[in-house]
Amino acid sequence: MGILTLVVEDDADIATVLRDRLQAMGHTVTTVGNGQAALEALQQAAPGLMLLDIELPKINGMEVLKRARKEWPELPVIVMTAFGTIPRAVEAMKEGATDFITKPFDNEYLNLVIGKALERGELKREVTVLRSELESRVDQLVTASPKMNEVIEQAKKAAQSDSTVLLLGESGTGKDLLARSIHNWSGRRNRIFKPVNCVALSEELLVSELFGHEKGSFTGATSQKRGILEIADGGTVFLDEIGDMKPGLQAKLLRFLQNREFDRVGGTRTIHVDVRVIAATNRDLRQAVKAGAFREDLFFRLNVVTLTLPPLRERTEEIPQLAGFFLKKHCLEAKKPAMQISLAAMKMLAAYPWPGNVRELQNALERAVVLKTGEVLTPEDFALQPMDVSTEEAAVRNLPFHESVEHHKREIIRRAIARVGGSQTKAAELLGLQRTYLARLIKQMDIK
Ligand SMILES: Nc1ncnc2c1ncn2[C@@H]1O[C@H](COP(=O)(O)OP(=O)(O)OP(=O)(O)O)[C@@H](O)[C@H]1O
Ligand SMILES: [Mg+2]
Repeated sequence: MGILTLVVEDDADIATVLRDRLQAMGHTVTTVGNGQAALEALQQAAPGLMLLDIELPKINGMEVLKRARKEWPELPVIVMTAFGTIPRAVEAMKEGATDFITKPFDNEYLNLVIGKALERGELKREVTVLRSELESRVDQLVTASPKMNEVIEQAKKAAQSDSTVLLLGESGTGKDLLARSIHNWSGRRNRIFKPVNCVALSEELLVSELFGHEKGSFTGATSQKRGILEIADGGTVFLDEIGDMKPGLQAKLLRFLQNREFDRVGGTRTIHVDVRVIAATNRDLRQAVKAGAFREDLFFRLNVVTLTLPPLRERTEEIPQLAGFFLKKHCLEAKKPAMQISLAAMKMLAAYPWPGNVRELQNALERAVVLKTGEVLTPEDFALQPMDVSTEEAAVRNLPFHESVEHHKREIIRRAIARVGGSQTKAAELLGLQRTYLARLIKQMDIK
């Protein structure tokens, strides 16, 4: 099937001639006879080209042109004017028409103008995609542990399909980065990747952001607006923080996931799009379902390909690679000469539990690089957060009181030693303990 072309022409004879010519050129043609019908056809058919008569009954051609420019900025529009009405054509070009032809038209000239217009439309689309690509530039994904390699392997397989992907994992484990990577490994890589934060906006705004709205559908809806799902047609939408999505939106999203269909807010026409959905949350969704905060049917819809990113403390073998990667990156960014990480510092980084995961590691390196004047980063260059004694770890494990105290003591000592790069003397200083007392504790508790 060729390109879908909408002909807006009130003179039935001219419309017929045009349709025949366009069909001969391989176009699929829809013809309408007035401005109102033109706007409706644009909504419904999403044509790739419009030939628009400027003198039209009901809504005039200029008005149709203005609306089309606003709503479908990438659509090439060729304006048709009667012979001798050049000022109208000039006005149309000012309003953003791609080109114009005067009636009656020469076959060859028509061909030429259409060819040029389509080329320009293609260029515009490319620019939009390039711009969105720039916005969603994918950083390199560093992996060096069997656990992560397995996740990546599954993600690459999932990328080849259109299946919904659910990304789970603590904050800072790389869900965002992985979502972008999946898009880039997929056949949709040349189309738009659009992230949506499901909690950043009020429910009402989010609904209209996602699904779009018709003019006048609520106070403030002064014009019609296409939603993200429409704009990202052919591409990927990344629903971030989905675990915190409000119930009303959950219901609407469910409908969309079931058949890729939705209505704009205040709209009556069902819109169908081809969008790949990736969702992410750092919440325990099953728990949220049990607690009644998350719809079970939506959970099942999302839970098709589920990938869990392990916390950094469960893949400590990656820390040297990640640290090295961030070190290079931030030296470049800060325009500083290449630096190194001392052995003691690396040991300390590897032993730290990274509650903020990869993001915290990256921040620690950025800070160290920016503040450093020398070339070798030592343990003192990293201002790692002091350990919170009420770490969730022990609480999660639900240990009885004495064991819990024991656990905390052990953790505090282990981390203090790691923080100072392995020196018991310095660790004792940090903890405000006698060195000999600390040594005894270490021996008693068999701390390695
Ligand atoms: N494997 C990795 N290789 C390189 N950089 C990584 C990796 N994982 C995460 N990062 C970087 O760490 C930072 C945090 O990652 P990201 O934003 O993807 O986490 P997240 O899981 O989405 O966190 P949140 O739940 O808080 O949104 C980003 O700057 C990201 O580029
Ligand atoms: Mg994120």
